[in-house]
Amino acid sequence: MSVRDILRMGDPRLLRQAEPITRFDTSDMNALIEDMFDTMHAANGAGLAAPQIGVNLQLVIFGFKQNARYPDAPPVPETVLINPVLTPLSDETEENWEGCLSVPGLRGMVPRWTRLHYEGFDQYGNIVSRDVDGFHARVVQHECDHLAGILYPMRIKDFSRFGYTDILFPELDANHDD
Ligand code: NI
Repeated sequence: MSVRDILRMGDPRLLRQAEPITRFDTSDMNALIEDMFDTMHAANGAGLAAPQIGVNLQLVIFGFKQNARYPDAPPVPETVLINPVLTPLSDETEENWEGCLSVPGLRGMVPRWTRLHYEGFDQYGNIVSRDVDGFHARVVQHECDHLAGILYPMRIKDFSRFGYTDILFPELDANHDD
């Protein structure tokens, strides 16, 4: 168990297309996932993608009961998602604020699909298949973007709504640096 360093925007390793995983439930993978949860929890993150710790695999984790960085967000089940495929369930999109552990100190208003279906595998190779909306759908889209080398600032349409978290949201705990 260990907390890994999180790569920050500007590192070219965040811009790669991640490789699919072909073997499940290996000791290496289970140790990696444990480290990812340790790293996400240490940073109060809502999610984390393997490329953010320099591992170029199609693996994301997300979920929380209550999140200090997004105090108004409803709970999202703790999930390990491997080789994910996302399919929007309608043309509807919505905008909301996002941050990223690889872009510390900033938030931006990002358009996302409102409702989507996602499918993939958990670490044991079981199929994960869900229809989701709202913040859950947003988190999945954000994390899976990391697997295609996309960081949320690349999705921002209105840069007048991109700024420093402590200026935009002074009520958030100052101990959270992103
Ligand atoms: Ni991120």
